[in-house]
Amino acid sequence: LNVTLRPEESKKISDMLIGVFFEDINYGADGGLYAELVQNRDFEYSPNDIGREENWTATNSWSTGGEGLSFDIDTVAPLHTHNPHYAVLDIKEKGHGLVNDGFDGIPVKAGEKYDFSVFARSTSNKRGKIIVRLLDEDGKVIGEARTGKISKTWNKLTAVVEATGSAVNGRIEVIPDMEGEVNLDMVSLFPQKTFKNRKNGMRADLAQAIADIRPRFVRFPGGCVAHGNGLDNIYHWENTIGPLESRKPLRNLWGYHQTMGLGYYEYFQFCEDIGAEPLPVVAAGVCCQNSSIGGAGQMGIPMEEMPEYIESLLNLIEWANGDPSESPWAKMRAEAGHPKPFNLKYLGVGNEDLITPVFEERFTMIFKAIKEKYPEIQVVGTSGPFSEGPDYVEGWKVASKLGVPLVDEHYYQPAGWFLNNHDYYDRYDRSKPKVYLGEYATHIPGKGNNIETALLEAYHLIGCERNGDIVSMTSYAPLLAKDRRTRWRPDLIYFNNMEVKPGTSYYTQLLFGQNSGNEYIPSVLTLSDNRDDVRKRIGISVVKDSLSQDLILKIVNLLPVKVQANIDLAALGITGKQDATKTVLSGMPDDWKARPETSPVAMEPQYWDELPAYSLTVVRLKSK
Ligand code: AHR
Repeated sequence: LNVTLRPEESKKISDMLIGVFFEDINYGADGGLYAELVQNRDFEYSPNDIGREENWTATNSWSTGGEGLSFDIDTVAPLHTHNPHYAVLDIKEKGHGLVNDGFDGIPVKAGEKYDFSVFARSTSNKRGKIIVRLLDEDGKVIGEARTGKISKTWNKLTAVVEATGSAVNGRIEVIPDMEGEVNLDMVSLFPQKTFKNRKNGMRADLAQAIADIRPRFVRFPGGCVAHGNGLDNIYHWENTIGPLESRKPLRNLWGYHQTMGLGYYEYFQFCEDIGAEPLPVVAAGVCCQNSSIGGAGQMGIPMEEMPEYIESLLNLIEWANGDPSESPWAKMRAEAGHPKPFNLKYLGVGNEDLITPVFEERFTMIFKAIKEKYPEIQVVGTSGPFSEGPDYVEGWKVASKLGVPLVDEHYYQPAGWFLNNHDYYDRYDRSKPKVYLGEYATHIPGKGNNIETALLEAYHLIGCERNGDIVSMTSYAPLLAKDRRTRWRPDLIYFNNMEVKPGTSYYTQLLFGQNSGNEYIPSVLTLSDNRDDVRKRIGISVVKDSLSQDLILKIVNLLPVKVQANIDLAALGITGKQDATKTVLSGMPDDWKARPETSPVAMEPQYWDELPAYSLTVVRLKSK
């Protein structure tokens, strides 16, 4: 393989190409990224959550820890109307309390500190403290603390528990140290070590795995979760901000419960913490076309309710960017701890919606309202469900007609499709809106992600970099999947309560995210064997990062044999030896354990390398 670089044809490309798409699917949020350890802390689980494996009720995950007490659920005088259920403990003989077994167990690490909190009240004149105990698998106490006294009205009590032992499948017992009736709600336990040590924060190891990709943006909260299963399941951002007890939980379309503890404030904060742009996605006034609840199929918010819905979307922009001294929404953001604006630039409207007149009418109203009031916000439209068929074309037509700046398109396709469509965006009409490839993954029947998927995705991303003048953003999907709770495969990062286990495809995202650039240098490939099926198994992308001034080469070899590559770097003005790092991800196509390996190299202007069979090679030439 001979590579001739054409610096004279260099072009600017998007500096936002690699991002992540976070959706609460596969227990990605509660029980996943959100570090809360108590499951059903709000006693709001309900049969409506349609947990497929369990018959959920408000008592789910809770039991009594022993004799002397019983408990029930009531709704008569709740802590907040959004959170109507609470536990009523009838304690005849003190000594035990309510036990929660977490999300598949509570992981406890000896020596670590945990923040406990609960809202409690005593309905009699008796008062007692709350004893909180961490228990290991055998019921041994591995941490204990006491709160202040329970009062007559709802009051938040807190304590810090230091673990004296460890457990994989731990539990928590919450014991009112008194007799009589005690009401409890919002029972919470967080490790103090969260990502960036944020209160109400994220699991440090999972958040770090995401941050390591160096995503330039985070799209949230869905996917299908954003537009919902039925109109009453549309995700309303304002129900997810403010004090936790006032947030409105929602049935998760993927068959469980969303506490909304991980809400808009936390998403925006996370973006800021990792230096990524927030890309919230709101429903385009329609629910998911695959809805099975509240009618069937796509339904639109009734026209008379659309002005109120649009107002709520404009409030979101105000909440994120407004001045707290002028805007009540911005004041809420400031009160939550962020007086400075979040500097929201993008807003996704719609997700894979069927492009019907019901959609078009509502999308148009929303788009025009945002454009009029906040022209600086870049609306990201939707292309509709992927097909070579009419919806897809219609989606782009609507967006082009309205002048939507960016369009989100999704495709989950087999290996052959990715191989044959590496030039997908080469043919793209430059007069249309820019592309946000919001969801994609290689799906190989019966297999998870492995070297084959990782390399095909790398190959596709090479095509995206080559077309980085019109492909502005990309994000693999789905991002997270918890062991035993995975309903969608493959996913980028698998995890359980103890471990984070990135799949092979993760390393493609990592290598592209850590090695992106904003200038593309075209190249011409000459192969000794120039047959079509050989040629289309080699991909190369050369980019420059103006910030570091580093030059980055990415080469995918999808052939079953190694390839000798000669790259003439002299064309870029490189004259002497230069320090570089080389990272190679390779293995047999089925290999799901392969990890990238990095080594230093001294680059000659006439760079010669041997690309292993089935490999992605990333070479980074340091300017300094
Ligand atoms: O990523 C999983 C789902 O795939 C998303 O929720 C949806 O947008 C798409 O159909």
